[in-house]
Amino acid sequence: MGFLCSLTFSIQFLLLFSSSLFTNCFTLNHSTTTHHHECHQHESNALLSFKQSFFISKSASYNPSSYPKTLSWSPSTDCCSWDGIQCDELTGHVISIDLSSSQLYGSMDPNSTLFSLVHLQSLDLSDNDFNHSQIPARIGDLSQLRHLNLSQFGETTLSGEVPTQISRLSNLLSLDLRSNIERFDFPFINRLHLKESTLRSLIQNSTRLEQLRLNFVTISSSLPHMLTNLTSLQILSFRQCELHGEFPIGIFSLANLTSLNFGENQNLQGTLPASIGNLTNLAHLALQDNSFHGEIPRSLFGLEKLVDLFLYSNFFEGHLALDMFFKLKMLNTLDLSSNKLSLFSQNRAVNVTILPPIQWLGLSQCNLNGEIPTWIMNLTTLNHLVLHGNNLQGEISYFLFKLENLTGLDLAGNLFEGQIELDMLSKLKKLTVLGLGGGNKLSFLEGNNTSNVTFPSQIQYLDLSSCNLVHFPNFIQHLQELTGLSISDNRIKTIPSLMWNKTTLQSLDISNNLLMGEIPPSICNLQSLAYLDLSSNNLVGMIPSCLGSFSQSLQLLNVSGNKLTGNIPQIYVKGNVLQFIDFSSNQLYGQLPRALVNCRMLEFLDVRHNHFNDSFPFWLGSLPKLKVLSLRDNEFHGAIMCPLKYTFPPLQIMDLSQNGFSMKLTSEIIMCFKSMIISNKRQLDFKDEIYFSGNVFIDIDSLSFSMSNKGVVMDYLGGQYLHHMVAIDLSCNKIYGEIPDTMGSLNGLVVLNLSNNMFTGSIPSSFGKLSNLEVLDLSLNSLSGNIPQQLTGLTFLDFFNVSFNNLSGPIPENGQLSTFDDNSFKGNKDLCGIQLLKKCEDHPKLPLQKPDGDQDSESGSFFELCWMVILIGYGGGLVAGLALGNAFAIDVYRLLKKIF
Ligand SMILES: *[C@@H]1O[C@H](CO)[C@@H](O)[C@H](O)[C@H]1NC(C)=O
Ligand SMILES: *[C@@H]1O[C@H](CO)[C@@H](O)[C@H](O)[C@H]1NC(C)=O
Ligand SMILES: *[C@@H]1O[C@H](CO)[C@@H](O)[C@H](O)[C@H]1NC(C)=O
Ligand SMILES: *[C@@H]1O[C@H](CO)[C@@H](O)[C@H](O)[C@H]1NC(C)=O
Ligand SMILES: *[C@@H]1O[C@H](CO)[C@@H](O)[C@H](O)[C@H]1NC(C)=O
Ligand SMILES: *[C@@H]1O[C@H](CO)[C@@H](O)[C@H](O)[C@H]1NC(C)=O
Ligand SMILES: *[C@@H]1O[C@H](CO)[C@@H](O)[C@H](O)[C@H]1NC(C)=O
Ligand SMILES: *[C@@H]1O[C@H](CO)[C@@H](O)[C@H](O)[C@H]1NC(C)=O
Repeated sequence: MGFLCSLTFSIQFLLLFSSSLFTNCFTLNHSTTTHHHECHQHESNALLSFKQSFFISKSASYNPSSYPKTLSWSPSTDCCSWDGIQCDELTGHVISIDLSSSQLYGSMDPNSTLFSLVHLQSLDLSDNDFNHSQIPARIGDLSQLRHLNLSQFGETTLSGEVPTQISRLSNLLSLDLRSNIERFDFPFINRLHLKESTLRSLIQNSTRLEQLRLNFVTISSSLPHMLTNLTSLQILSFRQCELHGEFPIGIFSLANLTSLNFGENQNLQGTLPASIGNLTNLAHLALQDNSFHGEIPRSLFGLEKLVDLFLYSNFFEGHLALDMFFKLKMLNTLDLSSNKLSLFSQNRAVNVTILPPIQWLGLSQCNLNGEIPTWIMNLTTLNHLVLHGNNLQGEISYFLFKLENLTGLDLAGNLFEGQIELDMLSKLKKLTVLGLGGGNKLSFLEGNNTSNVTFPSQIQYLDLSSCNLVHFPNFIQHLQELTGLSISDNRIKTIPSLMWNKTTLQSLDISNNLLMGEIPPSICNLQSLAYLDLSSNNLVGMIPSCLGSFSQSLQLLNVSGNKLTGNIPQIYVKGNVLQFIDFSSNQLYGQLPRALVNCRMLEFLDVRHNHFNDSFPFWLGSLPKLKVLSLRDNEFHGAIMCPLKYTFPPLQIMDLSQNGFSMKLTSEIIMCFKSMIISNKRQLDFKDEIYFSGNVFIDIDSLSFSMSNKGVVMDYLGGQYLHHMVAIDLSCNKIYGEIPDTMGSLNGLVVLNLSNNMFTGSIPSSFGKLSNLEVLDLSLNSLSGNIPQQLTGLTFLDFFNVSFNNLSGPIPENGQLSTFDDNSFKGNKDLCGIQLLKKCEDHPKLPLQKPDGDQDSESGSFFELCWMVILIGYGGGLVAGLALGNAFAIDVYRLLKKIF
């Protein structure tokens, strides 16, 4: 469902920036026809040698009107007449080079002859392919530069650190280092980095800056307040720079600003001051996806030149009435989605003739009630309308289908009902994105004879999730351009085979339906797929072997929750981009294919609840991005280990529960989990998006991962939890020996479950250092000694269980441990405390004893079988069964005793 918002978002991006990228507002006039001087020989040579250091390649430039300007450069002509070159009329020195979109391909030479052109005032090399080379430090030699443009479109082609020498350019008026990565590239690779100290020096030295564009350059710091010293600033663009901290409020006092873009920095905080109303030239304000809060000052609505206003995904609050927008006569795009605003609640008649000429209206998750406001239907200029995730109801008005210029319409996640006639939809000739799913109760009138129905055939993205569909709507097969389809959460049993020929598809979500039969191998025809979700259906048979590597663009593969059997696909080709693989909850068996090491992008691998029989896949420890590994409830066996280079570098969640692992837990094994030692919470940020090379991306929030703990099932739904989740679950195995003290150094841990193993010795007092711990389960082992006093300091602990061990002595009385009842402690003969109604001075008999009292047995774990397996078998509804809580642990005990 998330894909529509994201798509719309990409388009938004294009709206905002594509127009400005190729218009070099500052390029000096380069079609000079009159010049008094011939070009200096050494400058001519320098330019020629610069030219020769590149190939010409059409694919090096993104701009469709690019052409190779350097082709006209010839030693026999005056360099001042060359395409893209401008000389000073008096001195004859080259002062401007414009090689933007010139199809140059090659690396930047650190020692390029370019840097001998010290009279240069303007250098524009944007939109070429520099093969991921670095910006040469000698750029600092060009001290006369006023304009420097190294921006890139599409994939970023410059990488590494921006050299500190850039701050020597004290005459700069404009600097553009944007890489307009958008969603076309992977997020972590090859971005430019700018050190905070370099940014500071730049601001200190280049005090005349008017335009500073750094979108997608990783800065990872707070914004220097000194920025407010740059009083000439007109354009500031810092989109997706990983900025955090307080937004310097003084920026809103820079009187000449026309454009402010700080979108998608997530942790940037601040408020909008009333003085923003002084920025009378402001045309673009983009603060989306940050942590801004407070009311939107009224003065903002007096900014008559405002064209774009992107405030979505913040914490803005207060009431906004429709008439407040009447003065914004230029307003073209307005997106207020996902804030805490109350919008347009007075339902009085508005004079619709004075509405701004809005083309883009984003009001998703804005708590809108009732029918679609009628004034929206009067915005005849609209081309995007996003009303996703409100409580809008009633039939979808006929007038909506009269908005002839609509290209995107997202009404998903509301309470609409009634029938949609396809003929009606096909009136919207430009519509490419259509979202009607997410809980609406709509049906489709397809006509009984397909021959005379006109299909809205240009639709590319269609969301019909949760639409109560029992049949696959026929018209979908006729959508020739279909790129993304979500038809999840319906009751569809079969997919017409024609769908497997839709090679345009990049994203296909059929999860949570009633699909039957086998996965047809012809699904592998869908060569462009990046996202394939077939989870939670009734699919049987083998997974087609081509599925691991049929698409070079596949990023997500989810077949969990079916009845699939056999081996999983064995082949994963080198260079694949799989990030998320979920085979869980099927009847799959065999070994994990070693070819999985070819999945260098893999972040998430879940094979739990199957019958895999293998040794510990330590070789997955060489995957540089693997964060989540779940092998729960299979037949893995032997020792857990991580030899040499198999270090599991960013692992955050390791679930090995309910297998046959058997070994002594040593400090060396603990070091397999050293990624769970954290110095800084930020390092845990699990990017909450999965990117892929189409226009669509997937929100990891729509994927669930559940960690279950005996008696407690925590459903860690989506990204929010993954953001801070660090977990080790080794429960229900045959691991023995003492718990090493070093385990207490894994200070990132939030969940630690060692229950139902054969641990002996005492509970390490070092556990007191696990200050993030929320769940600690050590039950059903043979631990002895006292409960360490240090555990009382674990202030976040919500779940604690040491029952059925050989612990003795008093339960520490103060702190967090006093909040747990007897279920957490019972089954330890010599433990005393109020929880157990057993005073510590006298030593009465244990009120609740372990049946047979053989918890001392050195043979280790009390059970041969993990009781969870039994529960799953008996309980039917897994989650319901387990969620009963740990209070019933004792009953399970009895049940098991009966079974054996
Ligand atoms: C750059 O060129 C100069 C002179 O041509 C030379 O002395 C120097 O070693 C070169 N530096 C690099 C990094 O190539
Ligand atoms: C500032 O610019 C001057 C002159 O170009 C230069 O000498 C100095 O090193 C620069 N300062 C920094 C911090 O880069
Ligand atoms: C620039 O800003 C800093 C801190 O905001 C201030 O201390 C400094 O005096 C300012 N410098 C100039 C030249 O205005
Ligand atoms: C702001 O813009 C005006 C008009 O272009 C100009 O005269 C003025 O110098 C600018 N202010 C600053 C601080 O650059
Ligand atoms: C800016 O706006 C504030 C509040 O709206 C006002 O009090 C102040 O005088 C304005 N400053 C300038 C320089 O116009
Ligand atoms: C609506 O606004 C227009 C333009 O300002 C004006 O001419 C018209 O009289 C208004 N209509 C009403 C009903 O107020
Ligand atoms: C506004 O839209 C309604 C339908 O929703 C229509 O009847 C009315 O004529 C429109 N008004 C104007 C001024 O376009
Ligand atoms: C729809 O778009 C076309 C082309 O851009 C434009 O000429 C037309 O005026 C638009 N229609 C409306 C109602 O704005």
